[in-house]
Amino acid sequence: MVKMSDIFKRKDESGEGKRPESKEEPKPIPSIFKKPPEKEPAADTKIEPPKISCAKPAPIDLTNIMQKKAEIVPLPSVESQEACNEVYKKCIDALNRAIEQIKKGKAISIDELLAALDLIRVHLEAEKDNLIELAYYNEGEDYLRNHLVNVLIFSLIIGERIGYSKDHFLQLGLTSLIYDLGMVNFLDLAQLPRKLNAEELERIHGHVNKSVEILQSSGYNDKDDQIKKAILEHHERIDGSGYPSGLKGSEINELARIIGVVDTFEALTHKRAWRPRMLAFDAIKAMLDKKSLYDPKILKMLIDGVTIYPTGSLVLLNTEDVGKVVKLQLSAPLRPVVQILKDGQGNVCEETKVIDLMKNPTLFIKKPLEKQDN
Ligand SMILES: [Fe+2]
Repeated sequence: MVKMSDIFKRKDESGEGKRPESKEEPKPIPSIFKKPPEKEPAADTKIEPPKISCAKPAPIDLTNIMQKKAEIVPLPSVESQEACNEVYKKCIDALNRAIEQIKKGKAISIDELLAALDLIRVHLEAEKDNLIELAYYNEGEDYLRNHLVNVLIFSLIIGERIGYSKDHFLQLGLTSLIYDLGMVNFLDLAQLPRKLNAEELERIHGHVNKSVEILQSSGYNDKDDQIKKAILEHHERIDGSGYPSGLKGSEINELARIIGVVDTFEALTHKRAWRPRMLAFDAIKAMLDKKSLYDPKILKMLIDGVTIYPTGSLVLLNTEDVGKVVKLQLSAPLRPVVQILKDGQGNVCEETKVIDLMKNPTLFIKKPLEKQDN
C-alpha cells in the first residue's frame, strides 16, 4: 500500500529558479487511505459521535455543537452557484468557438480565451468550492471542451497555492486552455469505445505538436516560449517515461508538470468512451501507485487544494450518515464541511444540517460514495 507520506520523502525536483516558491510548504498527510489519524480518547473518557436523525418528527438528539455549526456554516448561495454556472458556460462557449476555428483551419482568438480565463480567475477567489464541484462533475459530449475548462480550474488552484505572479498565472491558464486543442484532429480516435492499439496511440500522440501549431498560428507573443514548452512537454513524466522526448524531473517545464498532474486527475475522474469515471479518492490512489510519474510537490498541492473528497461529492460518515461535501478546508483536506443528506437509518434530511468536521473530532469520513448509489 502506498502511503501519502512516502511521496514527500522524495527529494523535490520541481525548482527551476524562475518561479516563486510556494507561500507555505504543504504539510504532509500521514496516510489518506487509512482511518484518519484521530486521537482515540481514553476508554473512561471516550466521546461518542453525535447521532444525527432526519426522521419526522425530528427527535431532539442533535448536540448543541451540531446545532451551532448549522447556524455558522452557511451553504453556498443559489446566486453564487448560478454565477459560477454562467462563468463555466462562457468558458465552454469560448472553447466551442476556438474548436470551430481549428476545424476550419483558421487561427483561434487568444483574446477570447484570455477573457474566459480571467472570468475563472476572478471567481476563483470567492467561489472556489462551487468551481471545484463544476470541474469535478461536468462532462461534455465529446469530452474535450469540458476537459480543458476543468483542467483550467484545477490548474489555477495549484498556481494559486504555489503563489504565482499574475504573469505566471496567465501563462498557466492559457496553457490549460490550449495544451490539448490539437486533439480536435484526433477526436475520432479519442472517442473509440475501446483502448487504442500501439499504432493508434502513436498517431494520437501527434496532438501535442498540433496544439503547439495552434498556439503559434494564433500569433500570440509567447514570452520565453513558456507556453510552447509547457504544451510540448505536458505528457513528459518525471521518471523519463513520457513523450515526446523522455525528459526527466526538472528538465520538464514547471507548467507542464502541473498540467501533467491535473490532466491525468481530470481524465481519471471523468468518463471516457472506453471507461467509466473514477472517484477522486480512487484517482488519487491510482496516481500515488504510479507516483514516480508525477512531481510530488504538485501532486500534494492537488490533494490539498482539490482533495480526495471534492466539493459536491458524497461521503459516508462513521455514524453511517450520508453527506455531501459543501466546503473544503485548506488546512485539513480530510475534514471538509458536510451537509447531511440521510441519517444512519436512511431517513432523508429535509432540514438543512451542516457539520464542520474540523470542529467535530469524533466524526470522520469513512469512505467516498458514488452519487448514483444514493
Ligand atoms: Fe495531451
